[in-house]
Amino acid sequence: GEMYGNIRDLMRRGLPPEYISLLEHAGEIAFNMGYRVYAAGGIVRDLLLGMECLDIDLVVEGDGIELARALGQDYGARVRVHQKFKTATVLLPGEWQVDVATARMEFYQYPAAMPQIEASSLHQDLYRRDFTINAMAVSLNRDDFGEVVDFFGGREDLQRGLIRVLHNLSFVEDPTRLLRGIRFEKRYNMSLEPQTLKLAQEAIRSKMLARVSRERIWEELKCILLEPRPGPALARLAELKLWDFLFPAVDYSKIAPVIDELPRSINFLRSCNVPGIGETWLIYFLAVLHQMDRQSADEILSLYRLGRRQAEKIDAALGGWRDVVEGLRCHIATSGLARRLISVPTETYPLILAYLETNELRRRFCDVLTAVSCEKPAISGKDLRHMGYRPGPAFKKALDAVWQARLDGIVSTRQEELEYAKEFLSKYGGER
Ligand code: CTP
Repeated sequence: GEMYGNIRDLMRRGLPPEYISLLEHAGEIAFNMGYRVYAAGGIVRDLLLGMECLDIDLVVEGDGIELARALGQDYGARVRVHQKFKTATVLLPGEWQVDVATARMEFYQYPAAMPQIEASSLHQDLYRRDFTINAMAVSLNRDDFGEVVDFFGGREDLQRGLIRVLHNLSFVEDPTRLLRGIRFEKRYNMSLEPQTLKLAQEAIRSKMLARVSRERIWEELKCILLEPRPGPALARLAELKLWDFLFPAVDYSKIAPVIDELPRSINFLRSCNVPGIGETWLIYFLAVLHQMDRQSADEILSLYRLGRRQAEKIDAALGGWRDVVEGLRCHIATSGLARRLISVPTETYPLILAYLETNELRRRFCDVLTAVSCEKPAISGKDLRHMGYRPGPAFKKALDAVWQARLDGIVSTRQEELEYAKEFLSKYGGER
């Protein structure tokens, strides 16, 4: 392909119109303040790849906070300021946000220095980044709007499909880049450039990641799990021998077949119109943990300081997925399956599906899921009261029994349900 110098047209085609006008407006504000402003990082990379990108990161040669405040004012948006880092986030209505950074400016230190130094402050900002494909910027300034700034050969690496660090100490400075490199490699179907791969292997051999807090590692791990198809990146973690550090006591080769099956499972559930299967990162995380006993799993959960709510969800999944698989394989009644199903979180469904080896079992699973989510009893506690029963703990049990009878096809009309409830209550001590 061609090497773009100016991507103004690409921006107009690839970005929503309100983004374009915001970017142009940022350029106007900068001009009036005597600053220069650029959009940097992912947005340039994804524009050149023709992919969607919703993050806007601005770099200002000047006071980034001042520019962010002005932008926020013009858009009626809140601005969150981080004085310490000289950054700000403009929180626009409708869930989109713009991050604004201040390029380190020499003329703070040397007030007499000439503007010619300004050009290097953007260079410095980009040089601190992880990979060449992420270290490009595009000018938003009115005199050269759309001009690509590419000091490190990012465009060429994009074309050749190479993930390349900017300097030899990159992984030492920030070992989480090991995980980022793998994520970008697999997301864009690229490869770590040979020298970068060598540096990565050295960093892994000298256990650089162990110097990073588990919170930061989890942040990057979660980004991997949030990719549309995390499987190949997880395989790469194992291949590069990062797996045992990240997931102690999980044998990658044992879970790999399940992980590989998940995309198909997820598609199958979608095609069966199973409503919402939950958080995608958790689907994969559960697949990573699913063969562990609770104690070893809990060790990983506390390693990454997952919250109680999430830990409980994961515990329920680990304790319950096998029962569902067994129940399906042994052809137990729908009501029995339903009871097992409601004790595991929805994120367990793709995992369960990956264990079902015939089409018949997979169909049955989807049918039960649909039944569980749709089949509600037609009668309620009110009906029981009208029949003269006094509200009490037996009510819930009776309604539950009606629900199960309905799932098993024992009752189907409202009248049948009422009869069934009556019989249940007279047998199990409902008070009149
Ligand atoms: N960055 C970095 N080192 C890190 C994290 C981020 O150098 N450990 C830089 C990258 O150059 C990146 C920019 O900061 O372009 C913004 O980071 P982030 O939003 O995480 O990355 P994106 O490139 O926007 O990735 P994604 O598409 O996943 O949002």
